[in-house]
Amino acid sequence: MGVSPRPTVIVNVGPWDVKAWRSAFAALDADALFWPEDGDVTPDAPYYLCAWKAPAGFFQRFTEPKAIISLGAGVDHILDVVPEIRCPVVRIVSPSLTARMVEYVSLAVLYLHREVPLLRARQRRKEWIDMIQPQASAVTVGLLGLGVMGQACAKALQALGYKVRGWSRTPHDDPGIDSFSGKEGLPAFLSGLDVLCNLLPATAETNGLIGTSTFEAMTCPGLGVRYFVNAGRGETVRELELIAALETGLLGGAVLDVFANEPLDAGSALWGMDNVLVTPHVAANSDPVAIVADVASAIAALEAGRIPANTIDRENGY
Ligand code: NAP
Ligand code: GLV
Repeated sequence: MGVSPRPTVIVNVGPWDVKAWRSAFAALDADALFWPEDGDVTPDAPYYLCAWKAPAGFFQRFTEPKAIISLGAGVDHILDVVPEIRCPVVRIVSPSLTARMVEYVSLAVLYLHREVPLLRARQRRKEWIDMIQPQASAVTVGLLGLGVMGQACAKALQALGYKVRGWSRTPHDDPGIDSFSGKEGLPAFLSGLDVLCNLLPATAETNGLIGTSTFEAMTCPGLGVRYFVNAGRGETVRELELIAALETGLLGGAVLDVFANEPLDAGSALWGMDNVLVTPHVAANSDPVAIVADVASAIAALEAGRIPANTIDRENGY
């Protein structure tokens, strides 16, 4: 088993459309490309695992990868099912993912701020009612997470005229963004927000972070009503408290892409709420062709003995 100049790659795309991924992976310059669902796979060379929401059994079957590459930005789907990881875990940072997230977050903030659900309801009733909505410059949007996604969304929201704040684990000094960090910085970050937008990864520290007290801390001076957008991870939100906040009016509305359990349970109250837009974890979905190009760069770096830039810090969990 010598080191192959062209890598052996084993892919599991979980719930995604395998056909599209097979076609995209065909462009990868690999010595061997395995899809375990084709049957018995016994790689005869060191191999890489590429995965999205693969079942635990996949990682139990292939226990000594050179690296595990997530086919998206998040790595919780790997860290949650592989208890001990000895190899590098690489995530995707791609303009393709970031651009989609910017589109989604901009849409969500505008949808809430410009009261699209109210306008739709009035349209259904054929009601022509004059209204003047606050300009974006009166509205403060807070981004939980100021990473690749958070920073790009901050710029886009600023370009639309919003006042933007960000919260991260470590202090940031991004020009133009009011930055807060750590648990101690959270109350000051939340106070004064009209719209809270979550772009945090799911980690031991962030899970269950957002709930009633988070929403209560938002003073919503620009809109007089609090809104929530979740495009990070569902696990970071205490979902029953979110539902209660939407039912009681503590939150005026929400746009939700991610949930603690996906697909969202058919019995969830969130499905039927007029003030909630539910989307099926598609805010920034992985485009197979774009993502495979990033996989190729990561593997090339690893084969050259370099640590790819997007290798996660396992201690921090993201
Ligand atoms: P990233 O670059 O790693 O950024 C993560 C951000 O979260 C960083 O600013 C980090 O702080 C902050 N953070 C992490 N732990 C924290 C903590 N305990 N307290 C405060 N801040 C904390 O990740 P990204 O590429 O922006 O992606 C973010 C997440 O978006 C992904 O992990 C994934 O869950 C989600 N996502 C969702 C979709 C979708 O379709 N819905 C698509 C792509 C990504 P520091 O800056 O201090 O490190
Ligand atoms: C999607 O949720 C991702 O993490 O890329």
